[in-house]
Amino acid sequence: MNEPASAIAPAPPHPRPDRPSRGAGAPEPAEPIRVLRGGGVAVVVDVADDGLPQVLHWGRDLGELAPGDLAGLRLARARPVSPSALDEPWPLTLLPGEHDGWEGRPGFAAHRAGRTEHPRWAVTEVRTEPARLHVRAAADGLALDTDLSLDDAGVLRLAHELTNTAAEPLALTGLETVLPVGDRVGEVLDFTGRWTRERAPQRRPLAQGSHVRETRRGRTGHDAPFVLALGTPGFSADAGELWAVHLAWSGDAVYRHDALPEARPLVGVGPLLRAGEIELAPGESFRTPTGVFVWSDAGTDGIGARLHRSLRSRPAHPRGPRPVVLNTWEAVYFQHDLARLAALADTAASIGVERFVLDDGWFRGRRDDSAGLGDWTVDAEVWPEGLHPIADRVRSLGMQFGLWFEPEMVNPDSDLARAHPDWMLQPLDAGIRPWRGQYVLNVAHPAAFEYLRTAISVIVDEYGLDYIKWDQNRDLIEAVHEGRANVHRHTEAVYRLLDRLRADRPSLEIESCASGGARVDLGVLERTDRVWASDTNDPIERLAIQRWTELLLPLELIGSHVGPEVAHTTHRAASLDFRIATALFGSAGIEWDITACTPGELDRLREGIAAYRRLRGLLHSGALTHPDTGDDGATATAVISEDRSRAVVRLARHATANRALAPMLRIPGLDPTGRYRVAPVAELQVPRGLDDTPPPWLAEGLLLPGAVLTEVGVQPPLLAPGEALVLELTREPRG
Ligand code: DGJ
Repeated sequence: MNEPASAIAPAPPHPRPDRPSRGAGAPEPAEPIRVLRGGGVAVVVDVADDGLPQVLHWGRDLGELAPGDLAGLRLARARPVSPSALDEPWPLTLLPGEHDGWEGRPGFAAHRAGRTEHPRWAVTEVRTEPARLHVRAAADGLALDTDLSLDDAGVLRLAHELTNTAAEPLALTGLETVLPVGDRVGEVLDFTGRWTRERAPQRRPLAQGSHVRETRRGRTGHDAPFVLALGTPGFSADAGELWAVHLAWSGDAVYRHDALPEARPLVGVGPLLRAGEIELAPGESFRTPTGVFVWSDAGTDGIGARLHRSLRSRPAHPRGPRPVVLNTWEAVYFQHDLARLAALADTAASIGVERFVLDDGWFRGRRDDSAGLGDWTVDAEVWPEGLHPIADRVRSLGMQFGLWFEPEMVNPDSDLARAHPDWMLQPLDAGIRPWRGQYVLNVAHPAAFEYLRTAISVIVDEYGLDYIKWDQNRDLIEAVHEGRANVHRHTEAVYRLLDRLRADRPSLEIESCASGGARVDLGVLERTDRVWASDTNDPIERLAIQRWTELLLPLELIGSHVGPEVAHTTHRAASLDFRIATALFGSAGIEWDITACTPGELDRLREGIAAYRRLRGLLHSGALTHPDTGDDGATATAVISEDRSRAVVRLARHATANRALAPMLRIPGLDPTGRYRVAPVAELQVPRGLDDTPPPWLAEGLLLPGAVLTEVGVQPPLLAPGEALVLELTREPRG
């Protein structure tokens, strides 16, 4: 992906006598076809026809196009009149609808007091900036602003903003971002999951019809579709063409794909809007969350590579070294006791931990999970001197101090719920089912918003917090305010609250957590610095969860902790070496009562942390791939530095192998002519493996050209389930 930087090449001017006049102050003459280019991707948009723009191409960059080629492309795309169909050719627009001739799921749906809207759109303004296209269109009583931007990584972001320009209110029930994909797609990939098993892939042949995945959990969800990809048959981690989409949003969502007999296939996303949820008064607007569209011809890793590059280019992407975290949750749960926590902090600092995060249990009335949510002041019984003793201890040991909050939730047994029943999104007397004994605060309520902002700010300032773990532990069923469904406005308000807190304190970092990994999306990640990927610290489960979380996110955004030997969520035992090797590929930490560790265990942890601190610069900036292991029971994860001088590769086994001789481990993406030293990561243990004698190079190390490592590979040991080998590759200086 070393293609030229993004650019927009206007097509040759084309007379358009029949177009509506440009808006007042409209800066540009009408250019009928626009080309957005970036990262080897091109998006060609035709704004020449009546109605909304049509996408003529989204995929590989088409290279330099001679004058007239774009008009030729439009002609090449022009459809015939199919048998038993509309009498005229019809356009497949950016917001497909019945007026165009589209009979799949519409991109826009609204009514005025029951009268259906079938808008006749006409483009009124087209504006271009480098790598951006803005199109304004109008219809009777409606205005639509569409923004497309393609970045240097080839990631396209698309959003619509609808304004009600009529004198009557408009009930909006659908506004989705949709793009056509290649006709050659044949398979569909998306994701599902549950608590402690997030982001499980599901793959199936593409079937005809309009297919919709709705989420109605009021949060992103453990079973979020996450990324929906349509691919060429047989696509794999490193091969095949894919057109993928993700909705940058933490509320209810629609992921859709359409394969109708009479049209090109589509993929799209949008907010799920419930009846009555969005009513636009005259002059009011609604902006969709951003649809993030990614094309690649290099399999799922190609999709990941573009997304990682795109995220890393954000001005607010976390840049400093991702600190080693000690989170207190599985170490002490609600048993907050200064002496115990101080001992935990001492031990953590002694092995190299850099950030200490006090989890749930510190605030008023919170002795277990039945009470206290909402009362964001320090519990005076447990912490008579406030949190100062523990915060000061942590700081004196050279660590940062972080704190857990769950701002959106309330327990009925809290002063907040007793004082402000009108602030609830789920009224406490409405018979709504509790979830972990808790209900939802309507953050869109101005007074509730202000209460949260003030309460959190007071704590952040008093203790100089470096970090907030922002949790959210229930689905938002029956989330209604004053009779109206309110998930969307509530979610927008949560974003505003996060934005406000960060704007006030730019150095404050925030982690997004929701019963583990139920809020992993690019909407929340616009205002947070990492996600808690899952509540399971079982490394076998974590390997699978992280492998697919990595489709969207680079390693530095994925929180991963070393837990106790027997995982609390699965009761399965795993070796410390395997737990360390799993957490190493992420934003690493520990969640374990390490005061009870043996000296040997602490030494291992110290060595694992040293490896992480030495390698994190590479792990958090390099290109991530998942080399084929030739074996369903093992996963390989490789990170290669941008200049290809260094790499770290982990081979991890979660189930027994089907062969006695492990398949060769081939490492794609290396510099073919560079010579690499290959050796196990020095600070980590080499697994014992099941071979009677291990492969000889493991003891001696290897020096081989990148081409050999890519084409032939190295013979790994036959790992036992629950073992991982972590290798480091270093290119020899040339000359
Ligand atoms: C759910 C989170 O995922 C856990 O890590 C922990 O913070 C608990 N909530 C605390 O209640």
